[in-house]
Parts: sequence; C-alpha cells; structure tokens
Amino acid sequence: LERTFSMIKPDATRRNITGKIVDKLESAGLRVVAQKRILMSKKTAEAFYAVHSERPFFQELTEFMSSGPVVVQVLEGENAIAKNREVMGATDPAKADPGTIRAEFAESIGENSVHGSDAPGTAKEEIAFFFSGSEITG
Ligand code: GTP
Ligand code: MG
Repeated sequence: LERTFSMIKPDATRRNITGKIVDKLESAGLRVVAQKRILMSKKTAEAFYAVHSERPFFQELTEFMSSGPVVVQVLEGENAIAKNREVMGATDPAKADPGTIRAEFAESIGENSVHGSDAPGTAKEEIAFFFSGSEITG
C-alpha cells in the first residue's frame, strides 16, 4: 500500500466541512492513518510551499494557508497518491470534474479546500514535514 500526504485547507475548516471532505477520501478507498488539526505560522507555510517561492501567488498562498487551522493527514491505499489527486480534482474548481472535492467545495483556484502530494518523493517529504513515525498507524 502507498501513502500520501493530504491537507484540508483553511477555507474548509472555516466552513466546518472537514467531515464532508474526509467522507470523500474514505469513499474513494483511502484510509486516514494519521491526522491532526494545526495552525501554521506564516514561516511554516513558507517552508512547506518553498517550491512555489518564485510563483507570483506565493505571498497570497502562504498568507491564506496561515489564516486559519488546517487538518494534516497521511492517507494510505492502493495508488494513494494518484487516487487522492483524482478525488481532489483540478486545482481550479471551475475545471474540476463533477463529484470531486474541489468541484463540490472549493471557492477559487487559491482557496481550493485541499492539498495532496503529487509524487512519491514529495509525499515522503511532506509526511515527514508534519508527522513522526509513531504518529502514523494503519
Ligand atoms: P496542491 O495539491 O495544493 O499542490 O495543488 P495543485 O498541485 O493542484 O496546484 P499547484 O501545485 O500548481 O499550486 C499549489 C497551490 O497554490 C494550489 O493548490 C493553490 O492553492 C495555489 N495556487 C495555484 N495557482 C494559483 C493562482 O493562480 N492563484 C492563487 N492565489 N493561488 C494559486
Ligand atoms: Mg502541487
């Protein structure tokens, strides 16, 4: 089984719809094997999104991601990385397939309710950024 990192973003915690999002993940066959609700500092958000530091929306993104609580998760399942990306839908909710999390819940391309790792290497790094081994249990 593969593991991926997932984050429910501040627009979703603000609207009290984290359960609806977890339901989508679980219904897709993903298992939540670690989960916690945290508030990222601006510095932590900048470190997490360091790969995007040259993008024009970096300030907006890191301000948004530190504007309220997030729920960080480790998801486990067959092809968990691809499966999670599929159930998330496209970055821009206007382009996301019907039934995906972003089609149903995201507010805009920036405030798009969820993050999910895009490859095995980033999944490993992102899991280690937030979780120690003993916090993850199948
Ligand atoms: P993640 O799973 O969050 O990495 O989303 P993604 O892989 O679908 O998108 P990408 O890695 O290209 O961008 C990372 C995040 O930056 C997105 O999820 C958005 O929250 C934000 N983002 C991307 N493009 C824009 C944009 O044009 N404007 C703003 N404000 N935010 C953006
Ligand atoms: Mg990405």
